[in-house]
Formats: sequence, C-alpha cells, structure tokens
Amino acid sequence: MSEIFALVPAAGCGSRMGSELPKQYLSMAGQPMIYHALATLCASPDVSNVFVVLAPDDVYWHRYDWSLFGEKLQPLFCGGATRAESVLNGLMAAELELDDWLLVHDAARPCLSHKQLARLIEALRDDEVGGILAVPVADTLKRADAECRIVHTENREGVWQAQTPQMFRTGLLLQALRTAPNVTDDASAVEALGFHPKLVTSSYSNFKVTYPQDIELAELLLAQRK
Ligand code: CTP
Ligand code: MG
Repeated sequence: MSEIFALVPAAGCGSRMGSELPKQYLSMAGQPMIYHALATLCASPDVSNVFVVLAPDDVYWHRYDWSLFGEKLQPLFCGGATRAESVLNGLMAAELELDDWLLVHDAARPCLSHKQLARLIEALRDDEVGGILAVPVADTLKRADAECRIVHTENREGVWQAQTPQMFRTGLLLQALRTAPNVTDDASAVEALGFHPKLVTSSYSNFKVTYPQDIELAELLLAQRK
C-alpha cells in the first residue's frame, strides 16, 4: 500500500521579510518558525516521514534541538535556487515509491492545524490527481497599472487563494516539476500537464508568513491554540 510523506521546502532566504536570519528560523512563540509546521506534520499518524529541504550551506539547522521529532524528521541539504527546484531536489533525494503520496508544505505556514491537515488527507487519499488546501477569495480584486491606479475590477467568482500542503503522487509531481520548472507552487506544475487538482477548503489561519507584520498575527494564532 502506498504511504504518505511530507516534504517541507525551507531553502529560501525570506527576502520580503528583510531580516538577515532566513525567515524560517525567525523566533515565533518560543521556537524557530519552521518548528511549528514540522510539529503538526510529525504529529499526523497518517504521515510516515517528514523531509525538510535545506540550503546546502545552511548553518542554522544544527543550532536547534529537533530531537522531539526523532527519526520521523529527515533533513536534506539539497535546496535549489527556487522553491520548485528545492522541491524537485528533495523529491529525488528522498527516494520514495512513485505511487507514494507527498504533502508539500511551506516552512513559512506555521499555523497549519491538525484538523486542516487531516481534512486534506481525507479528501484526497482516494483521488486520481491530488489537490491543495485553498480559500475562496473574499476581497474585491483590482487590476493595477504601473502608477498603482485601478485599471479595472477583476471578477472574483471562482477565484481561490492557493495554500499548502499540496498533495500529489510522487511520480506525478516528479514528472510535473521536470516539465514545468518555473512555477510558484506544485499544483501549477501538475496543471501544466493537463490535470485538474482538487481545491480543499481551508481557512485564512493557514496564511504564509511573508512580511514582518505577519509574525505578530501568526504568534497570536499559535498562542490561542495552546
Ligand atoms: N523555498 C525553498 N527554496 C527556495 C525558495 C523558497 O525551499 N529557493 C521555500 C521557502 O523556504 C518557504 C517556501 O519555499 O518555506 C515558500 O517560499 P516563500 O514564502 O516565497 O519564502 P522565501 O522564498 O524564502 O521568501 P521571499 O520570496 O520573500 O524571498
Ligand atoms: Mg519566495
């Protein structure tokens, strides 16, 4: 029977965060940010192993204590120049079976809940293609010109914001990322092959920590959970 694995790309430098320390290591609720997502993934009884893809020259990982996660957590020092490259390198290094499921989750989404993760797995484990956590867009969308003037209002009907985890079979994801390496998420690569991944409704709490002002909100959400 095919197993479910998780892979966490964490080889970025967090340029929009603007701190010297890569954002995945910024302190959040007493731990480096990445710790929270790893804790949720490692706690899932459905997930066999959690691979973390780090930059080959990452000097931070070994400064922290990961022993709570035991052998279930596997660091791989093979990150690439883009998120897609990091995921692809990690996939190749992890040596999984082609029909194993893979949950790709951003290190920068610390507020993923046990419930959201369980829902995603439940919704997709018998799916032909796979899919992603996502939320329907609630705000009105404006198209801007170069001067930040509104050109027109976009139709938001049927528009969703993609989140992670994104869950696909290892073989399909390998093929997709090799075919379409310039994508910002895994689903885009699978879409480029002509497939239609499923959208599984999540909530805004699973947002991506990108800018300095995002840290406070993430800490509030994490504190509430304890
Ligand atoms: N990521 C990665 N390898 C890269 C770039 C990004 O593994 N070469 C990871 C990040 O570490 C993060 C996830 O992909 O966990 C989502 O990327 P993002 O939020 O954009 O993080 P950064 O690329 O680090 O931030 P920025 O775009 O602001 O530089
Ligand atoms: Mg980035």
